[in-house]
Amino acid sequence: MSQFQFPVRPRRMRHDAFSRRLMREHIVTTDDLIYPVFVHEQQGRAPVASMPGVERLSIDELLRVGEQALALGVPVLDLFGVPDPAAKTADGRVAWDENGIIPRAIRALKSRFPELGVMSDQALDPYTTHGQDGLIDANGYILNDETIEALIKQSLAHAAAGVDVLSPSDMMDGRIGAIRGALEANGYIHTRILAYSAKYASSFYGPFRSAVGSAGSLGKGNKYTYQMDPANSDEALHEVALDLAEGADMVMVKPGLPYLDVLYRVKQQFKRPTYAYQVSGEYAMIKAAAANGWIDEKLVAMEALTAFKRAGADGVLTYFALDAARWLRE
Ligand code: PBG
Repeated sequence: MSQFQFPVRPRRMRHDAFSRRLMREHIVTTDDLIYPVFVHEQQGRAPVASMPGVERLSIDELLRVGEQALALGVPVLDLFGVPDPAAKTADGRVAWDENGIIPRAIRALKSRFPELGVMSDQALDPYTTHGQDGLIDANGYILNDETIEALIKQSLAHAAAGVDVLSPSDMMDGRIGAIRGALEANGYIHTRILAYSAKYASSFYGPFRSAVGSAGSLGKGNKYTYQMDPANSDEALHEVALDLAEGADMVMVKPGLPYLDVLYRVKQQFKRPTYAYQVSGEYAMIKAAAANGWIDEKLVAMEALTAFKRAGADGVLTYFALDAARWLRE
């Protein structure tokens, strides 16, 4: 009962679609979507078994996907490289080869579709024989400052190829400032940085590691000495503050759905462009349950994307990006 003599009925506004629409607080639009893609040195397409609907693409096939993204209004692709296994080395040097898979993919996309945003990942894990994101010493420790030198070379190779957005995913200390300094020193003043600021040492990355071919290299290894402990969230605010101070234009929380509280705190505290990564394991879980007929893929995927917006995301990296753009048109 309210102070008046009639009941409170929040259900009135839910009674019809029109009034539900009128009071809707958060909506997903195509503008919110970042589409991660895997580019390999092979011909054609190769399915990723643990990520139904995701394929590794040759550069020719990538151009087809770029055309689809543009037609659907998806603003930006995020490129991950899959080198030939024989090209992997302990130092991952093929990562900064200007004729490596990613610089070639960037040049192909930007010359064919200049208006399509192109983002690329900076980390060494697809390119190293040990599957770690950085260089390692004799004890297997991932070296911080030496890795940053490698990331600068990788970043400059991507910037020279014309990438619009760099996204360092390695979690070395100080890499955003170092990369920003190198970009400025080389005249790349427009290159944006989306920092993987709060990236957790998560077990939800398994399918991705199969997709880029780092799972076998990593073996029983882990990333606990550089990626964040899933138990922490104050630490995420510290990491975000550092990356913003070092020159990041955008920050990210990763994984997505299990970390909505972190996303919410980051957006509340900093009010800067903030992104969530709905990672491979989250995608695989939805796909697997839907394939069993246990959940409705489209409704569950769109509900998850809406939850990111509600928690404060300005956008989402999602393997559902093209599907979501199609669903939004229906
Ligand atoms: C590696 C990287 C990973 C992801 C993006 N970049 C995996 C890892 O850190 O081991 C995960 C993405 C996903 O699971 O979808 N630098």
